[in-house]
Amino acid sequence: MRIRVPLAALLVVLAAAADAAPIAGTASLSGAVQAPRAVPGAQIHLMNVDKNVLFMVWSSGGRYRAVNLFPGRYEVTVRKAGWAADRQTVTLEPGESKTLALALREETARPVRQGEFGFTSSANTDARLVSYDELYPREPGRELLERQCMYCHGRNFFPNKQYPEVTWNTFIDVMLGLGAAADRGAMIPAGTLSAQDRQTILAYLTRHFGPGSERRGLRMDAEFPVDEAALGKAMYVEYYLPLDKQLDAANQQRRTQQAHFDADGNVWYTDRSVPNRIGRVNPRTGEVKDWMMPDPKADPHGLAVDRDGHVWWAETVGFHLGRLDPTTGSMIRYPMDSTGRRQGRGHSPIVDGKQNVWFTVIGGDMLGKWDRQTGKATVWKVPTAGAAPYGIALDKDDNVWFAEFRRCKIARFDPRTEKFTEYEAPTRPCTIRRLGVDSTGAVWYGGFNNGKLGRLDPRTGAIKEYDIPMPFSEPYDVWPDRHDDIWISDGGQGGALIRFAPRTETFTYYPTPQITDQPKLAITREGAVWYTPRSSLKAAVGVLYPDVTQVTTLAAYE
Ligand code: HEC
Repeated sequence: MRIRVPLAALLVVLAAAADAAPIAGTASLSGAVQAPRAVPGAQIHLMNVDKNVLFMVWSSGGRYRAVNLFPGRYEVTVRKAGWAADRQTVTLEPGESKTLALALREETARPVRQGEFGFTSSANTDARLVSYDELYPREPGRELLERQCMYCHGRNFFPNKQYPEVTWNTFIDVMLGLGAAADRGAMIPAGTLSAQDRQTILAYLTRHFGPGSERRGLRMDAEFPVDEAALGKAMYVEYYLPLDKQLDAANQQRRTQQAHFDADGNVWYTDRSVPNRIGRVNPRTGEVKDWMMPDPKADPHGLAVDRDGHVWWAETVGFHLGRLDPTTGSMIRYPMDSTGRRQGRGHSPIVDGKQNVWFTVIGGDMLGKWDRQTGKATVWKVPTAGAAPYGIALDKDDNVWFAEFRRCKIARFDPRTEKFTEYEAPTRPCTIRRLGVDSTGAVWYGGFNNGKLGRLDPRTGAIKEYDIPMPFSEPYDVWPDRHDDIWISDGGQGGALIRFAPRTETFTYYPTPQITDQPKLAITREGAVWYTPRSSLKAAVGVLYPDVTQVTTLAAYE
């Protein structure tokens, strides 16, 4: 007997990529998410209490499925604004697949909590949250404040201050680089703030953010768009850093800044909590190991791993690069300027094809290079004063690209000619934190203050900007995956990773498990997006698997 299979059905089967086999020794959990009506994209939090690792998936069509889970004891909750759920516990053995039904019930009115949509990562948790228009009444001063001050300070800075006119006036002088602040340089470039506009800003600040004004924060009136088809395949994992009884007694908090892979699939991080540490997570086991930095208050920022497996970090305080050899535990610190003539605040290192270490110097407006052959470091002043060099990336010819944070420019340094080329972002003024170079050589960046995603074509110098769809967007890092989809870390509405597909010009949102910003992304060859949740309640190294059914290893390889 011949069995006739409809052609359409056959094509559907062929088109769906087969799931990768589950990773050996892991477990899975799935089930229904029951609710009186459809609740799209509820977050299922699966906290492994033995490992101190969180797995998070989304419901899709009223169901959830989490695979590649560490065995152990779990606390399972469902989260969605406006809904409540009971916490359940379950234990998973290696290789086990269990089902667990979850239930949501409508929550009676209560104030929105920190951790739900509607909060900015930088808002004061104790301040009353109000709409943008209430915070910044529509008067002539508002637009000036946006254009002259808020592009640097953000939306929650002014409502946090209650200064008298004389204090606001003094700070405007400081921003102009006048008087005692002259040696620190101008924040507001000379000639760009007229006396009249200054007066309007001063009056606006005094009226709305003067003594007796209420401390407030910005309330977001927007919910993340939910794409259940995308979210239903995705999974976040956060490896929480342990608190040390002695070292963390004072802070009860740690603060990861940047993640980077080594050749063995481990993920390294800088920890800016005092005492400063450099650490490593093994994603296959959840094992965490820390190394104390030589100077516990050097404030490490970026991190890079070279071909020898040595881990480099840039110190914000003290103008040094540090290097750790993890096999011996030995550490070396190199001055960022071997001549000793210059001082500044280091920021982000990156290792080039010849194993030289390039770095940005945010305070002091410099770009630097530690030379592998001489073991010495050199710095160059960048052309634009007040630029604040920030994120750094290399193209395939080892040209050095970096963001000029405060002056809204993308810069390139050609190591052969030692020449800088600067490109102005079209929507000005702006702040740009970071950038990335895709496989075609195009340079992508985020307008941190204005919610733009930019693409620079280095052959023509042409720049195209896209609007990131959510209001109050704050794109921080912008980094391509292997298919040249662009990943954006956005803390603006409380934290999301966003995938931008240049071919279709579409944005897909993956809201983070915790309220946070994520200063830097690192993406594996399998497309797993690693990040550090910097301002979150719980310090971690985290990863988003956009399609967890295709994962073949938990290790992170570049
Ligand atoms: C290019 C970026 C930039 C611009 C534009 C800018 N600021 Fe600032 N502002 C800063 C930075 C950076 C600091 C911290 C300075 C320091 O510590 O030396 C600061 C500090 C301040 C402070 C003191 C912070 C505190 O703790 O109270 C105030 C107030 C302030 N700015 C107000 C303003 C006002 C008002 C404007 C617009 C008229 C403005 N700023 C424009 C970057 C900027």
